[in-house]
Amino acid sequence: MHIHSNDPHSFYQAGQPKIEKIFWLIMPDFDVQQVTGTARYEFDKPGETALDTRGLAIQRIYGDDGVDIPFMLDEPDSLLGSRLSFSVPDDLEVMITYTTSPEAHGIQWMSRELAGGHPFVYTQGEAINARTYIPCQDTPSVKFTFGAQVIVPLELRGLIAAAHHAGRRENGVFATEDWEMPFPITSYLIAFAIGDLVSEELSDRTRVWAQPHMLEKAANEFRDIPKLMDAGERLFGDYPFGRYDVLVMPDAFPYGGMENPCLSFLTPALVAGDGSGISTVAHELAHSWTGNLVTNANWDSFWLNEGWTVWAEDRIVEEVYGVDVAMLGRKLLELEFQDDLRYFEKSGQMRFTALCPDTSGVDPDDVFSRVPYFKGAQLLTLLEQTVGRARFDAFALRYIDTFKYQSIDTETFLDFAEAELGKEILDLVRVEEWVYGTGYPKNAPAIQSKLIESVEYLALAAQAPASGTPWSALQLQLYLELLPSTVSQEFVIRLDSVFGFSSMQNTEVHWSFLVRAVKAGHLELLPKVEIFLRSKGRMKYLKPLFAALAETDEGRTHAERIFADARSSYHPVAVRAVESTLAA
Ligand code: BES
Ligand code: ZN
Repeated sequence: MHIHSNDPHSFYQAGQPKIEKIFWLIMPDFDVQQVTGTARYEFDKPGETALDTRGLAIQRIYGDDGVDIPFMLDEPDSLLGSRLSFSVPDDLEVMITYTTSPEAHGIQWMSRELAGGHPFVYTQGEAINARTYIPCQDTPSVKFTFGAQVIVPLELRGLIAAAHHAGRRENGVFATEDWEMPFPITSYLIAFAIGDLVSEELSDRTRVWAQPHMLEKAANEFRDIPKLMDAGERLFGDYPFGRYDVLVMPDAFPYGGMENPCLSFLTPALVAGDGSGISTVAHELAHSWTGNLVTNANWDSFWLNEGWTVWAEDRIVEEVYGVDVAMLGRKLLELEFQDDLRYFEKSGQMRFTALCPDTSGVDPDDVFSRVPYFKGAQLLTLLEQTVGRARFDAFALRYIDTFKYQSIDTETFLDFAEAELGKEILDLVRVEEWVYGTGYPKNAPAIQSKLIESVEYLALAAQAPASGTPWSALQLQLYLELLPSTVSQEFVIRLDSVFGFSSMQNTEVHWSFLVRAVKAGHLELLPKVEIFLRSKGRMKYLKPLFAALAETDEGRTHAERIFADARSSYHPVAVRAVESTLAA
């Protein structure tokens, strides 16, 4: 048993009665953009405890006997929301009825027009937004099981990220869907999605969910998921959560993917028709072991989730598609990381380039970067190269097996690594500098492959590849990302005429090109840029494209106009991110 210190992002205090099980009943109201919920909690012991809430109207708290339980809802803290405190009775059972706010950061409501035909609503809990849709101990140090029932309009499906669908009952104009999650998970993984959704099976434990117009393409794009799962099981042990399904989200989804348990949420941009999106699926799948099974105990240790998962993703991709594809992914991630380093340097925030920074007092979403992803994965790769793959793979297996269903922090990881690999190895790679130092250590492993070299050579020399060069989408993207920032507008136009980048289906390549074109001052593409910014909601696309536009006075005027129009279609967290991009 580990004794956890307090999580600075939660009002829950270590040692207080802890949630062991939740039964969650929810009903969305699209007209007022509110969810009415009732949650029944089972705690591990009686006594005074605290839950996190933010913007929730608490109607009533009562026990199994129906008798009111007195409670306190504190004045809201601007970062953490309101502490909800009460005393858990001796039978350990507590019911809370509540309503969410239309401004909830963890919920995105989409009208018929926006979602294409039928309304759509979904949640995004990570990092600290679950408290905007369910009162909970919103810290990744607490794990619990749950059941859920969602009541939806008859024409919609109500999905919960859980292992077992216990049935759908239709009565009149409503349908009720029941779900069960018998494996313990943390609050940030509680999720629902409600919309016009259909599914297709890929195997007896995997299906793809999507809006009807996307289903066939998506099922085809993701047909390798069973292979990815098999590779994951060979590397990291049996798949721990029963089913693994994926859900293709609307374009407004602010992330590439989110590892909601048993049901990863994925951006539709992955359905590119060329297989280029599968590594993101491998990433979300890999979180089943590194993140959902073994979980970071607080947001300072976020790299334990993401660094381990990038490493695990690349191992899976290597098994299924070969080492060159995995390397290409790592290289693209490095370029994002380098951008983030420059940004933190410029804004005087180098402390967030430490693998394990102090995030108390800041919203983890505000300092989200590729540091925990890339620097974390590179540290693990360095360890792997130092002790050899066979030994490191065995270490990874033991790590997962030792800490499964638990939450751990960086210190616990370091103690474990020292016990398993030896202090000499950790000293040799200078692990302290990696974990607590800022910037990018000099002894980082090189990222090289033939596929990368061929692209790098031409890009760095600012030469256009011959037309008909058989590059994959990932190579094209790498090429665009590596071009010197000084390439001329003429060069950009020529590239477009050879490759057709400005009307390319592949969202990543199309986006890379638009950023490049705007930076080169090629504002003739503004209508395409505008269509892109109005239709997509992934923050990774919005931030650099808005930033590139805002570099000139004319561009900034357009950026502000487009944002003013499009913001109501963005996720609340994305609105915040673009606001701060434009303010910089
Ligand atoms: N867990 C993250 C998404 C996330 C992180 C949401 C922090 C909210 C707060 C997810 O697994 C992820 O890493 N997504 C990446 C995918 C990429 C690395 C393949 C993304 O969205 O870019
Ligand atoms: Zn991740």
